[in-house]
Amino acid sequence: MADTLATKTIFALRDRGAAIEEAAALLKSGGICVIPTETVYGLAACAFDTAAVNAIFKAKGRPNDNPLIVHISDTDMLACVAKSTPQAEKLMRAFWPGPLSLVLERMPAVPDEVTAGLHTVAVRMPENDIARDIIAEAGPLAAPSANISGRLSPTTAQHAFEDMCGRVPLIIDGGACKTGVESTVVDARGDVPVILRPGGITPEQIERVCGGVAFTGGAGAGTAPPSPGMKYRHYAPAARVCLLYGNKKEVAKNINTMYYNYSESGGKPVVFCAEDCEPLYAGMHTVSLGSGAEAAQAQLFAAMRSADAKGFSHILFHYDEQMGLAVKNRVEKAAGAAKETV
Ligand code: TXA
Ligand code: MG
Repeated sequence: MADTLATKTIFALRDRGAAIEEAAALLKSGGICVIPTETVYGLAACAFDTAAVNAIFKAKGRPNDNPLIVHISDTDMLACVAKSTPQAEKLMRAFWPGPLSLVLERMPAVPDEVTAGLHTVAVRMPENDIARDIIAEAGPLAAPSANISGRLSPTTAQHAFEDMCGRVPLIIDGGACKTGVESTVVDARGDVPVILRPGGITPEQIERVCGGVAFTGGAGAGTAPPSPGMKYRHYAPAARVCLLYGNKKEVAKNINTMYYNYSESGGKPVVFCAEDCEPLYAGMHTVSLGSGAEAAQAQLFAAMRSADAKGFSHILFHYDEQMGLAVKNRVEKAAGAAKETV
């Protein structure tokens, strides 16, 4: 790139004050900056600064019909960004700060560049307190995941550096992301919240709070616009990803066959599975994603990046229900199951 930047990293767990001060000053002066959140690292700009928001799209190579999430640090900030609803109030009380983005009617001050011209805006209050302190200083921040468009979301500052080095002046390192997959995006305008993207908060959790929940593509979908970002191929490692699920024995049989076929033809496959499935793949390269959804989410993106670094040609992914919907959705995208791709 002709306009390559020197990229500085500040380790916020050691120099917290400097990290927050430098990030906020940069953002307030119209710059962009990588910040940690509990889900994935974000590439932030002041939400009301059109030029800075445009710089995010440029740095990521992101299609500009894909809107950004606005991050706030307290509920008072919501009023200048979006119009709340009764269901949104319940969801905010239950899950903020945390991995839940609410799609609401936007306020006119929010630029079209942020919302891709939609009448709605997605808003979230991150749980990560370094992120919240930066927002408290700099004001609401628009921030997509800090990866080059189409690649895996970064769950460490190192991942963000791999993609964003030379494209951003500053990365704030806040350690590994706790949740590891992006926020759940929910349209909270109607009586029943509609999940547009599965994520860190589960449908069951939302249903418990709101008394109902729907999915785009499922019941109640006709009333909600889909999340524009879901049509793009995403979360793609260099290795080819094959997603298999269903009867455990059948899946294991198929994966065994595929593993040997790929190995025979010169490939280097690896099996990703839940901890209790690992014995099904004795003698093969395996990566255990632990037990349950939280463990699988936290490890997924880092494990895929690491498979690329080790030169694996195929990831044979044995999906088990315990891994949860967010993992299934991300692996489907990685496998290229999205109907439209870019
Ligand atoms: O956890 C997260 O959500 C992370 C961290 C950085 O906060 N951010 C993130 O942003 O994943 P991004 O831009 O990679 O994904 C945002 C998703 C996209 O699928 C986008 O289409 C959808 O949210 N979205 C944003 N605004 C929307 C709106 N007004 N209506 C429907 N979907 C929207
Ligand atoms: Mg993203």
